Amino acid sequence: MDLYEKAERLKRVPPYLFREIDRKKVEMRQRGVDIIDLGIGDPDLPTPAHIIAAIKEAAEDPITHRYPSYSGLSDFKLAVANWYQERFGVELDPSTEVLCLIGSKEGIAHFPLAFINPGDVALVPTPAYPVYHTATLFAGGQSFYMPLLRQNNFLPDLDRIPSGIASRSRIMFINYPNNPTAAVADLGFFDRVVEFSKAHQIIVCHDAAYTEMAFDGYRPPSFLAAKGAKQVGIEFHSLSKTYNMTGWRIGFAVGNGNAIEGLGAIKSNVDSGVFQAIQRAGIVALRGDQSCVRETIAVYRERRDLMVRGLKEAGFEVESPKATFYLWVKAPEGYTSAQLTARLLEDAGLVVTPGNGFGEHGEGYFRIALTQEKERIAEALDRLTSMNL
Ligand SMILES: Cc1ncc(COP(=O)(O)O)c(C=O)c1O
Repeated sequence: MDLYEKAERLKRVPPYLFREIDRKKVEMRQRGVDIIDLGIGDPDLPTPAHIIAAIKEAAEDPITHRYPSYSGLSDFKLAVANWYQERFGVELDPSTEVLCLIGSKEGIAHFPLAFINPGDVALVPTPAYPVYHTATLFAGGQSFYMPLLRQNNFLPDLDRIPSGIASRSRIMFINYPNNPTAAVADLGFFDRVVEFSKAHQIIVCHDAAYTEMAFDGYRPPSFLAAKGAKQVGIEFHSLSKTYNMTGWRIGFAVGNGNAIEGLGAIKSNVDSGVFQAIQRAGIVALRGDQSCVRETIAVYRERRDLMVRGLKEAGFEVESPKATFYLWVKAPEGYTSAQLTARLLEDAGLVVTPGNGFGEHGEGYFRIALTQEKERIAEALDRLTSMNL
């Protein structure tokens, strides 16, 4: 065997479909092409000033330089519990039902290690954030894919999950507001998920990273607000998008105490928590004035309206999303996702994400991230329109 032969789990990770785009993007930039990158789900806006001031102050305090507690500062967990009560009407015990994470990705990636045995099944949406599947794989489990189809408003059809699969499933991943489709779910859907998970003894993992990125007065609900949800589920949340803090690496998991305990047990063997100065800044973010969030949303809304109008005028099929900073756009007739994204890059210097990169049922779509200034979005639209697709 080769010295650096990869482990089977790594060999089974699906090919990274964005690699070719990344390579081309770099190569074109080197040639001096003006690339407009609408591919990345990473806010271009800065973290609000009062949060930056809080980390500066906290970093001066030597107490923050030591190992943090594994589960998070009690004040951080209390701030999360209070925020959940105020924002979602969900009651949480900060000592047993809240866990600080190094970003929600970290928690999602570790969760299956606590509850999946080799051969167990996780119910995973397609298209979806790729971590649900790879985390399942790393735990030795198998994904059963739940298609998110437009005719079902991009919600999984629970009636189509075979009973033989449901009986072998330990976890179901869901994510609303959704990346990449930008779909939203109401409490009625969450009620059905609770019912399903109780009937089949499945832990629900709701990825709620985008609940605060919603427009026109719409307030996405927490899964935990559904009746009985806390008995069966856990919710992953993040400060990344809400407060433009993707690089800071802070998020949290909330919900069922046994689920939190299992995840915490894995984590205490892997990492040693989040820098306390970041947690203190997180407390300021959650407790402080939320007008910064409203300002961020106003910026995305303007970009959304501009892009959606322009795309429709250019003949694309797209809906104006109620939440997230993504647009999920149908590729024109005659193009696969990959063919279209390659053409947009080569002929117009535009980077968008091919839908099939999020799984089989993303084929035929592409995702636009509204993480560029208005002027660049207008320029991107000019280029798109002149392509005559
Ligand atoms: C659906 C979804 N979940 C989770 C994350 C991870 O966010 P973070 O680890 O920054 O909290 C992302 C990031 O893009 C995402 O799109």
